[in-house]
Amino acid sequence: MNPAVFRRSLLKWYDTHKRAMPWRAVSGQTPNPYHVWLSEIMLQQTTVQAVIPYFLKFVKTWPSVEKLAKADQQDVLNAWAGLGYYARARNLHKCAQVIAFERGGVFPEEEKELLKLPGVGPYTAAAIRSIAFNKSANVVDGNVERVMARIYAVNEPLPDSKETLKSHAAFLAAGETKRAGDYAQSLMDLGATICTPTSPKCLLCPVSLYCKANAQGNPETYPVKAEKKPKPVRKGYIYWIENKRGEILLHRRPEKGLLGGMIGFPTSEWTEKKAAHHSAFAQVKSLKKLPNAKVKHVFTHFELHLQGAQTRIHTGRIPEDHFWQRLDDFDGKALPTVFRKFYKLLK
Ligand code: ADE
Repeated sequence: MNPAVFRRSLLKWYDTHKRAMPWRAVSGQTPNPYHVWLSEIMLQQTTVQAVIPYFLKFVKTWPSVEKLAKADQQDVLNAWAGLGYYARARNLHKCAQVIAFERGGVFPEEEKELLKLPGVGPYTAAAIRSIAFNKSANVVDGNVERVMARIYAVNEPLPDSKETLKSHAAFLAAGETKRAGDYAQSLMDLGATICTPTSPKCLLCPVSLYCKANAQGNPETYPVKAEKKPKPVRKGYIYWIENKRGEILLHRRPEKGLLGGMIGFPTSEWTEKKAAHHSAFAQVKSLKKLPNAKVKHVFTHFELHLQGAQTRIHTGRIPEDHFWQRLDDFDGKALPTVFRKFYKLLK
């Protein structure tokens, strides 16, 4: 297959079918690298639909990378709450500081320089280089992997096939100098709207002619995936604890690790064995289980099942990094999803 011909078909389709997104420049305008970078960080592991309101809120609150760099880290984490993968928010803030304070507010164009930035890996570096600067790059996300697996009918299962899929993508992308950013985004839009995981719309596909899986008549069977192991389940208690003033007890989580730096409800340890109460609350007489307040949440590497428990009035000492929060000026929006679920049940 001739890559230039493949790209021409795809770009022609993109010109009439590209999705409008608030970070995308309209044709003829230069993209804003700050918007491209911010959107690409948010879009890692997260759908366009989920990202849009967060993106709009961020650029309204912090209209430039300098403003974001000067923001308080807790404000950035609070604004990120609900998007998940919170290391992204901490790295986002660090990266803004590097760009604003060490690089004169200018994003680099070379992948080697982009890769030095906090939170920027090979995917994001390639995406910024092509989308913000229209420079040739091989941008491979999950959508592009699926498209490549089908075009070339790759029988090797994911994740082992990642390198194979990437080299197919590189072959097709090589030499696109005029519209590198559009080409990268046309592949992603094709994957998101036509070459979908189930029921791909091959009759509407601008590159079906080049697609081996379509010729075979079994596009849905690609990408082949290795069998997944079921996720382990961790269990624990989550606490709704009030004091005499009607305030609730919250916990600022340690900087490192899962949900790092985020605000949450106090919980016991999360364990694959039997759940046991947090030592600070285990002796509290008024502590009682809330049979209807159970929270389940799926993380990347495990599933979490938390059993709610409540004390009527807590007068004892509170553990380190915990604090009392007034309920009348709290709406739960700064909580990550797992804790927001509990808040909605109990408030
Ligand atoms: N997913 C991640 N980045 C994207 C982009 N720029 N366009 C469409 N989908 C995307």
